[in-house]
Amino acid sequence: MTPVRHFLTLSDCTPAELDAIITRAIELKRLLREGVTHETLHNRILAMVFEKASTRTRVSFEVGMAQLGGQSLFLSPRDTQLGRGEPVSDSARVLSSMVDIIMVRTFEHSIIDDFARYSSVPVINGLTDECHPCQLLADVQTFVEQRGSIRGKTVAWVGDCNNMCRTYINGTRAFGYTLKLSCPKGYGPDKSLLANNPAMQLADTPADAVRDADLVVTDVWFSMGQESERGQRLPLFTGFQVNPMLMNLAKPDALFMHCLPAHRGEEVSHDMLDDPRSAVWDEAENRLHTQKALMEFLLASGPFKTR
Ligand code: CP
Ligand code: NVA
Repeated sequence: MTPVRHFLTLSDCTPAELDAIITRAIELKRLLREGVTHETLHNRILAMVFEKASTRTRVSFEVGMAQLGGQSLFLSPRDTQLGRGEPVSDSARVLSSMVDIIMVRTFEHSIIDDFARYSSVPVINGLTDECHPCQLLADVQTFVEQRGSIRGKTVAWVGDCNNMCRTYINGTRAFGYTLKLSCPKGYGPDKSLLANNPAMQLADTPADAVRDADLVVTDVWFSMGQESERGQRLPLFTGFQVNPMLMNLAKPDALFMHCLPAHRGEEVSHDMLDDPRSAVWDEAENRLHTQKALMEFLLASGPFKTR
């Protein structure tokens, strides 16, 4: 029997597999635009477990599964036994006995590792405190569509070294770009993430990180679950805002990305999201296309069909 494939971090796929998923996402986007039916997951069922809020992830998975001919279930801890303390392992066994694929958005990464260990069907990471690999697929699709291959390019990360930043760090190996990071003191990457990774550079200032970059990325200064740290973080993060003036230091054709939701006036200026260099709306839409390709891949359907 073929072992179950999960997508808990980018490292669960080879660089070639990730490239194939992005190529297929671009194709699925074209088919959708042309009105061509592509029900490769007919009758398949996706369960979505959300322990944190979501707009893009929920809608893109749900719409994506419907467009592929399948159906999805939204499960919140407020209405399931997970929220009343039923062990993750028991929930994973039961859910996976009934559905074909499961997406989980949760807090500690160990929760999704546990879930996957006990699941008999593929589990997709829809965001943990550690990483958000689905978002990076959409970001790379967006870069590829607008600027060509990201391999060999320079990406600048400005702000908190949070789950998105760590996904970008992981992406250096998967996608072959160089990553320059500028984070406030105390909010940078763990040393272990820098070790043996020549594609990573720590910059002294946001300006140093952004200078000559092909892509500039940021995210909120406090993530879901860290709301109580707002007051303590704000003074330390001042100066780490991405705005058109900072973008002027990047290459003239540089793109700006943000996974959204954004806090205008904090990590991004009020005018940055609608600046001509901003790709954030395409980036958000591409969650739909990349996750459709990912689900096909994990269920070995469509162009990924195996015997
Ligand atoms: N970028 C992202 O994951 O957005 P949601 O929190 O709205 O799903
Ligand atoms: N870093 C953010 C990403 C939201 C999509 C968070 O975890 O809240």
